[in-house]
Amino acid sequence: MIGLPFLLLALGAEAFPVAKDSSKIGSQEDIFKYLGGAAPYFSFPGDYGISAEIPSQCSLEQVQMFARHGERFPSIHRGQQLANIYYKFGNYSKPLKGDLSFLNDYDFFIYGDNVLEEEVTAENTMDPLNPYTGEANAKQHGRLFYEQYSDLFENVTELPVFTSSNKRVYDTAVNFASGLGRGINSSIQTLSEKAFMGANSLTPASSCYTWDADERYDVLGNFSTQYLKDISSRLTKENKGLNITQKDVQLLFQWCAYEINVRGYSPMCEIFTEEDFIQYSYWNDLQGYYEDGPGNSVIKPIGSVLFNASVELLKQSDDLENKIWLNFAHDTDIENYLATVGLFDNGEELNSSYVPFRDHVYHKAWMVPMGARIYTEKFQCGNESFVRYIVNDAVIPIESCSSGPGFSCPMNDFIDYSNKRLEGLDYAKTCEISKSGTNVTELTFYWDYTKKNYNASLTLASY
Ligand SMILES: *[C@@H]1O[C@H](CO)[C@@H](O)[C@H](O)[C@H]1NC(C)=O
Ligand SMILES: *[C@@H]1O[C@H](CO)[C@@H](O)[C@H](O)[C@H]1NC(C)=O
Ligand SMILES: *[C@@H]1O[C@H](CO)[C@@H](O)[C@H](O)[C@H]1NC(C)=O
Ligand SMILES: *[C@@H]1O[C@H](CO)[C@@H](O)[C@H](O)[C@H]1NC(C)=O
Ligand SMILES: *[C@@H]1O[C@H](CO)[C@@H](O)[C@H](O)[C@H]1NC(C)=O
Ligand SMILES: *[C@@H]1O[C@H](CO)[C@@H](O)[C@H](O)[C@H]1NC(C)=O
Ligand SMILES: *[C@@H]1O[C@H](CO)[C@@H](O)[C@H](O)[C@H]1NC(C)=O
Ligand SMILES: *[C@@H]1O[C@H](CO)[C@@H](O)[C@H](O)[C@H]1NC(C)=O
Ligand SMILES: *[C@@H]1O[C@H](CO)[C@@H](O)[C@H](O)[C@H]1NC(C)=O
Ligand SMILES: *[C@@H]1O[C@H](CO)[C@@H](O)[C@H](O)[C@H]1NC(C)=O
Repeated sequence: MIGLPFLLLALGAEAFPVAKDSSKIGSQEDIFKYLGGAAPYFSFPGDYGISAEIPSQCSLEQVQMFARHGERFPSIHRGQQLANIYYKFGNYSKPLKGDLSFLNDYDFFIYGDNVLEEEVTAENTMDPLNPYTGEANAKQHGRLFYEQYSDLFENVTELPVFTSSNKRVYDTAVNFASGLGRGINSSIQTLSEKAFMGANSLTPASSCYTWDADERYDVLGNFSTQYLKDISSRLTKENKGLNITQKDVQLLFQWCAYEINVRGYSPMCEIFTEEDFIQYSYWNDLQGYYEDGPGNSVIKPIGSVLFNASVELLKQSDDLENKIWLNFAHDTDIENYLATVGLFDNGEELNSSYVPFRDHVYHKAWMVPMGARIYTEKFQCGNESFVRYIVNDAVIPIESCSSGPGFSCPMNDFIDYSNKRLEGLDYAKTCEISKSGTNVTELTFYWDYTKKNYNASLTLASY
């Protein structure tokens, strides 16, 4: 139990409060793409119209997946921050007016401290009609994955499923595996998220001693917070003396996002305008780009660990008996990986002086929503092999290499491309991992899991 002064509601004999807005469930999908990756899963909006089917003249040789855990409750830290705001509302001396008046008759979606950090399930969701539980999403995803790649399941007897040791990540992996269907036995390989794992990890950032989230504070600190001030003034104009700070307003966007995860609908989202969402969304892009993406100097080296291993698996596809490589971790781990792959890195640094529209490709929320899934496909067409990426159901061609069927990249060209992306990157050195207490400089789990049987203990909080 988490030792927070936290139980918010007198729950009595009831399991949890009954949600009041069931009729509005499912009505907020238009805003998912602005919520910085905290909203439920949605398909990548920038689909180029390329079919995600394997091109008809081709046959699959290998598929890899890197996925995020499903829809979830807030972390312990975030939950406490949101509860503090909830208390501010509760302690306001008068009934709340205007946009916040819904709070006068409202049950907080963080209904206990035992749900924090967890995946949302049929059992702990606040509304049984919530269509966005991480549990259902992962099972459905498993089923869709099986249908899309059924050819590769032909001879599978036992399928390895690699997951980091965070509980919600593990739960997502198990739910995904159960969605594959009864015929498939999976062997869950649980890799510790802790720093001692070094490069042999799905979360190599955890041993990066030199990672500095504020490295580009010069840019991040420059983004105007006028929109937060404006929202705060709007809310306090209606409710004199209510102390809603800019920081609180920023957290209310997360309240909105997580509440949709938990009950399928959030009245808190209704306090924001479309322009507010666009500002908030770009703030998340900036943060993602300069903290966990191509704009931070240690991120491409971190992402090189999994990208290098991925390329190695592709090269060895004929020799490896296993053709399906399933991996589960966190949003930032996927951002690290994608930074090195380069799908959303056009070489232009994001500018914090204005919200860019025309040439903006780093949409964090589109890349890593809850339940995000990046596929790497290798297929053979005639006498040649090709590689292609699918990000959240959309084919995303490699910008400079898409001459193959279905805008895929010919294998030989892909090798050149990956060599260029990996050139000069040195994870162990850049990250000074020995200072984090590890000297493990290579990822070996894809090649030694049958011997090692990775079985790290699960943890509730990440890293
Ligand atoms: C008032 O705030 C305190 C914590 O600061 C909290 O324990 C209490 O529940 C709040 N009251 C209401 C009605 O929310
Ligand atoms: C399954 O095994 C058969 C017989 O060895 C082989 O011809 C076929 O290519 C295998 N399928 C896959 C997807 O590996
Ligand atoms: C799955 O495992 C069970 C128990 O070990 C075994 O009986 C069954 O044949 C396996 N299924 C497949 C498809 O390999
Ligand atoms: C910060 O904003 C100022 C004023 O818009 C601008 O001159 C400066 O270049 C910006 N700095 C960065 C690092 O973007
Ligand atoms: C408003 O709340 C912040 C913390 O959330 C606190 O630092 C500040 O003193 C409060 N201001 C007033 C006027 O209560
Ligand atoms: C890339 O992977 C191969 C095969 O696992 C390994 O031998 C090599 O050291 C890796 N390179 C880097 C830079 O990690
Ligand atoms: C962002 O744009 C502003 C205004 O055009 C410019 O002054 C600034 O140098 C740019 N910052 C970066 C980091 O490119
Ligand atoms: C594939 O076949 C074509 C003609 O059929 C030939 O031009 C090409 O060189 C071959 N490619 C490889 C990689 O063998
Ligand atoms: C890592 O290697 C360095 C240099 O060889 C050594 O001093 C250090 O003790 C090693 N650390 C661990 C955790 O093995
Ligand atoms: C993992 O497996 C090893 C060897 O079977 C065992 O000694 C260890 O206790 C297991 N660890 C956990 C966390 O289950």
